[in-house]
Amino acid sequence: MIGIGRARARTGNAVFPTGCHSLVKFQRGLESMYYIGIDLGTSAVKLLLMDGEGNIRNMVSREYPISFPHPTWAEQEPEDWWTQTKEGLDDLLSGIDRKLVAGISFGGQMHGLVILDQEDAVIRPAILWNDSRTAEETDYLNEKIGRDFLSRHTGNIAFTGFTAPKILWLKAHEPGHFARIRKIMLPKDYLAYRMTGVYATDFSDASGTLLLDVQGRTWSKEMLAICGVTEDMLPGLYRSCDCIGSLTAQAAEELGLPCEVKVAAGAGDNAAAAVATGTVAEGGCNLSIGTSGTLLIASDHFRVDADNALHSFCDAGDKYHLMGCMLSAASCNQWWMEKILSERDYARAQSRIDERGLGRNQVFFLPYLMGERSPLNDPYARACFLGMTMDTGREELTQAVMEGVAFACRDMLEVARGQGIVINRSRLVGGGARSSLWQKILANVLGIELELPETEEGPSLGAAILAAVACGAYADLNEAVRALVRVKKTIAPDPVLTQRYQERYEKFSKLYPALREVFRALAE
Ligand code: XUL
Repeated sequence: MIGIGRARARTGNAVFPTGCHSLVKFQRGLESMYYIGIDLGTSAVKLLLMDGEGNIRNMVSREYPISFPHPTWAEQEPEDWWTQTKEGLDDLLSGIDRKLVAGISFGGQMHGLVILDQEDAVIRPAILWNDSRTAEETDYLNEKIGRDFLSRHTGNIAFTGFTAPKILWLKAHEPGHFARIRKIMLPKDYLAYRMTGVYATDFSDASGTLLLDVQGRTWSKEMLAICGVTEDMLPGLYRSCDCIGSLTAQAAEELGLPCEVKVAAGAGDNAAAAVATGTVAEGGCNLSIGTSGTLLIASDHFRVDADNALHSFCDAGDKYHLMGCMLSAASCNQWWMEKILSERDYARAQSRIDERGLGRNQVFFLPYLMGERSPLNDPYARACFLGMTMDTGREELTQAVMEGVAFACRDMLEVARGQGIVINRSRLVGGGARSSLWQKILANVLGIELELPETEEGPSLGAAILAAVACGAYADLNEAVRALVRVKKTIAPDPVLTQRYQERYEKFSKLYPALREVFRALAE
């Protein structure tokens, strides 16, 4: 059992919301109930079981394939998400009294386009957040429709991974599929649909479609018209902690759970991770080094940065955040270790790096394996190593990959600083955050303190917390976060190393501008 701080779980009938609860819950009180958080990630679904006192009782992860049918395209089969979630749930709940599961919620990879026909069958594989096929459609939206128009109606401009450009791509390139669309949804919403039969999404995830008026929290009629879709094709909008329904009889049977289990709308993975790290109040910052790398800055008010370089999204409560997202973060390391070096023991490979060489590496790595989103917004950017000589070894390259990701995170931080936002510390989560070497590189490249929460399971824990709030175990998100989130370790930057990295960062900053036109020429 992994403790994450004791929840102020409430007991008895008094605080129980009415609706879909079995008698056993009324008899036992909320502290004896379980909440399931499902993080529908890019490489795997991660499931987490939390008890009513905030202890993590089990965690399970199930992988599924991602296909890259063309360079920089990325697709997945929604059916794989469902199958792996079902199997994962079975493992998660082994030895657990399933009658005590009160609620389920989600954190999910954002922006993916899932389309269903009138029989509710998936029309084609989902087009994912890191797919850059929509360069033309993105240019059309930003240049012809205009950034000002987009920003006025959605709070954002177009990026290739967002959902609206994908809809336009589909209309132009697969008109047969486009004509069959009856429902459009985001990845985690497909799981919720399979569980409840309800077409629902939440404001944080909907923010990344470029179809939502983020400030007004409604679908934008203007954007729907531009994309040629109607509001009835889109899911209903809910708050992340809202209960959208309970399990259908079929889902209950497939999952081996009672029909009464409540399903809450959930959040985009970054908004869910922000809940898990307690980044829900003005000025809080969270850095996530997962497949993508995101820098999220919580804001009590809706705000848009001067050039829309950062995304302006609803959070999982009733507030907002600014967020930068680089497309390849921990995935650069995974690509380098597994695909190139055929090495699965990351810790062993990193232990060969001499830490005296930090900030002195002559090799640079540009981490643009899938093009880049924040802050470059350039689908043509590509990854490369620069600065190798005959004495360069594998260790320098491994180090350069980790440093390149850190420098690209610094690029996002600089955009925020350029808006006058002061960031001296951030929470750190995601697979990459497990490496103590990477923690050190990041703290010193960014020159800020990094705080590691007691549990690094960002979105899945955030999702379990959302489920607990939806079931009434906490009065609201703030109460839940206060009760559950603890920091276990702080990594402080070292002034000497930070200075060395400052010099390296200044050199790094010159590389992409020098190569930008070369990348375009290579793409032709
Ligand atoms: C955020 C984004 C990614 C995905 C990956 O805008 O695209 O963080 O959500 O999971």
